[in-house]
Amino acid sequence: MRRIVCAICPALLALAALGASDTTFHPVIPKVWDDRAVETMEVPLAQRDRSPRYMTSAEYYALKVRPIYRSYPAYAKGREPAGYMASLKEKEPEIIFDPTKLHTKEDWIQAGKLVFESETQFRPAPSEQLSADDPLTQQVASDGKLPFFLPGFRYYVRKKGVLEVGLNACANCHARIMPDGSFFEGGQGIRNPPLSEARLRALRESTPEDFRKLTDRLWMTVGAPWVMSKEEFEKAFTREEYVRWLVARRPSELARQGTSYTHPVRVPSLVGVADIRYLDATGLVRNRSIGDIMRYAVINEGLDTLAHYGDFQPAPGATIFSGDEGTRYSDEQLYALALYIQSLKPPPNPNKFDEHAQHGEQIFTNEGCPVCHTPPLYTNNKLNPVRGFKVPDDLRKTDDIMNSSVGTDPTLALKTRRGTGFYKVPSLRGLWYRNAFGHGGQAATLEEWFDPARLEDGYVPKGFHLGPGPIEGHEKGLDLTPGEKQDLIAFLKTL
Ligand code: HEC
Ligand code: HEC
Repeated sequence: MRRIVCAICPALLALAALGASDTTFHPVIPKVWDDRAVETMEVPLAQRDRSPRYMTSAEYYALKVRPIYRSYPAYAKGREPAGYMASLKEKEPEIIFDPTKLHTKEDWIQAGKLVFESETQFRPAPSEQLSADDPLTQQVASDGKLPFFLPGFRYYVRKKGVLEVGLNACANCHARIMPDGSFFEGGQGIRNPPLSEARLRALRESTPEDFRKLTDRLWMTVGAPWVMSKEEFEKAFTREEYVRWLVARRPSELARQGTSYTHPVRVPSLVGVADIRYLDATGLVRNRSIGDIMRYAVINEGLDTLAHYGDFQPAPGATIFSGDEGTRYSDEQLYALALYIQSLKPPPNPNKFDEHAQHGEQIFTNEGCPVCHTPPLYTNNKLNPVRGFKVPDDLRKTDDIMNSSVGTDPTLALKTRRGTGFYKVPSLRGLWYRNAFGHGGQAATLEEWFDPARLEDGYVPKGFHLGPGPIEGHEKGLDLTPGEKQDLIAFLKTL
């Protein structure tokens, strides 16, 4: 082989090194809520006339920017330092995101971490010391501090003397506790611990008005009147049904706004998201550039509840997005946030590429998996139509669409506010640190995903399920011998 000698390489390297500590990083910040970019960002819904229409750029920029304030840890009951609460009441509000102080790219990334971790909706802190009847808080908090990434477990001072707690930080849902207790931002979050008896009793005994508020909120979150009217929804969603649903919930799965409580989505890992062409399990958002990741954050912090789906607006007036304040992120905050997301790295993979994994890789190739899960991303970045969906001709021109369906349950893709008629081919990178497989997290493990028993009628999934029933479709790899399956999984866990 000829060795290539490069005369200017040392100079280039020196330049690159300079770049790394560059004090003159000039961010090119896209305009987030640009009408044209917003209009072309989403794949239309399967029910096309119900595709969301978002607020205009003028309306969006009329919202006030939400500053990012310093927050303070909450402690488990009785563990806070003496005089802690009184000392918080003396604190001045402190804004911790200031774009004029950001110089290097690393500064921007670190500022993006603050955005990622900061909650966006606030309510008065309970007067009692926060406590958690959750074993995890004992596990993590050796110094008595409650894990900050759980919603409501930190104090904010936005006004001197007023303590608040918050909700809806990216980190609330996109942060994972690894088996060794370490903490992985960008990994799948949402723990959905089993319900306590006390909570169940409180729910069963809640007043009709309280239950009504709850159903109204759920309707705002998942209602799709072109699939089921509000009256039908209220009839179906009884107190017993609610309890059944809460008991069914599993880690890393969420009836997120725009999905369905019977067909929720699993939380994805955000590592490597810049390479992923479609965002969401249903491929709703086209990821064309950093601007689209910024837009995705805006929409999913709740702007979608203000959109019009035909004549339906999930949250007219009050909304989880604007609260009573009508606030938004600044474009700088969103840019920093997107840079941070792009910088996310997984922990080191403990699984070695041994002879089993090597054999597994051969099986992966022989079984034809790379057609869809193409290395190095382990996705072909295409949309796979669900069964029963007729792909509109115009989409074949604008989007990357496969011909045949893998045949998984079509409900999320056809009957929700995120339903495009497709599931994207997910990347298999990072399978080793994930659970909840398939778009709805019905399979708890890879072993279950490749278990042919899951196709049987009376099957009881180990992941999210409201009752017995098959985990349909995606039959690839189901007919391997147990040994082959083990090796295939060994390989998948190295990705
Ligand atoms: C309440 C929980 C929750 C919060 C808060 C949340 N997310 Fe998510 N996120 C989800 C779920 C659930 C999905 C999967 C949605 C789907 O597949 O339809 C998701 C998907 C995503 C995706 C798409 C990834 C992919 O591969 O498709 C991105 C990007 C993302 N979130 C970024 C963010 C950012 C940035 C924030 C903060 C501004 C945030 N999320 C806040 C739960 C949350
Ligand atoms: C024809 C395209 C196609 C082929 C071939 C294919 N897959 Fe998939 N795969 C998909 C799609 C689409 C999904 C998502 C389905 C859903 O969520 O409903 C998926 C999901 C998965 C998942 C779950 C991932 C997650 O993030 O939840 C795994 C694991 C997987 N495939 C592995 C394999 C393996 C191993 C093979 C070969 C034996 C294979 N796939 C062959 C299209 C394919």
